[in-house]
Amino acid sequence: MNVIILGAGAIGTALARAILDTDPKAQCFVTYYRNPPNISHSRLQAFQLDALEEKSFSNFADEIKAKVGPIKWLINTVGILHDQDLHIFPEKRLADFDAAAFSHVTMSNILPTVYAAKYLGRLFDKKTISVFTSISAKVGSIEDNRLGGWYSYRSSKAGLNMMLKNIAIEFSYTNKNICVAALHPGTTASNLSAPFQKNVPPEKLFPPEFTAGKLLEIIKNLKPSTSAQYYSWDGSLLPW
Ligand SMILES: NC(=O)c1ccc[n+]([C@@H]2O[C@H](COP(=O)([O-])OP(=O)(O)OC[C@H]3O[C@@H](n4cnc5c(N)ncnc54)[C@H](OP(=O)(O)O)[C@@H]3O)[C@@H](O)[C@H]2O)c1
Repeated sequence: MNVIILGAGAIGTALARAILDTDPKAQCFVTYYRNPPNISHSRLQAFQLDALEEKSFSNFADEIKAKVGPIKWLINTVGILHDQDLHIFPEKRLADFDAAAFSHVTMSNILPTVYAAKYLGRLFDKKTISVFTSISAKVGSIEDNRLGGWYSYRSSKAGLNMMLKNIAIEFSYTNKNICVAALHPGTTASNLSAPFQKNVPPEKLFPPEFTAGKLLEIIKNLKPSTSAQYYSWDGSLLPW
């Protein structure tokens, strides 16, 4: 089975490792941007891809189409919350809001999913159940928002959720066997969460391996009849 993982950060790499360790038939195609995956495996191929560049996606899709069979799972793990080099940090209050930062966070958290659907959507297996999923975040839930703040990240993940719902509807017209899902990984130790870990109780800060195991339990049980849902790491449904 062919699995594409976009992003070789903490969660992306842990997913690739878990899939390769548990399924001897899995072939993993992992994309990275600045940092290549810190694993090597005979059934893993890494591709450099800027997930904000449309041409990068069309080239990647051509390569997958030419060299690889139908895709079984695509898991997008690309995303940002902060970027020191670009002076982007989640806003505590409106006074911190900056349009350029908002634009970059929004593009980084939404475009990879849209480009993946646009260029790779037609390469999915149609004969057996296949999965198209992106790592969202619980803070993207409009209904669940009680604390406020993090304007750009929250709204980018809410926008991502809408894109996933739309993609699920369009995919269902041409592929009756595909399931689309938004996944919340829980607070997971990674570069992305590093500046925010100090107030997280140790039992609520998951090692990426734990998160990957939980997300794979969900992915393995997805069915087309339950497409377009928003899952938390423990398999419970989140309100949009
Ligand atoms: N960790 C958490 O607590 C948590 C909680 C809720 C949701 N999430 C979501 O989970 C996902 C994975 O996060 P993580 O914790 O694994 O963080 P991470 O280790 O920082 O991984 C993020 C990945 O996104 C990639 N990326 C960023 N901009 C890119 C671009 N333009 N093109 C291609 N790749 C790009 C990074 O690539 P480079 O390293 O090469 O730059 C990195 O591989 C994100 O969507 C995040 O929002 C995480």
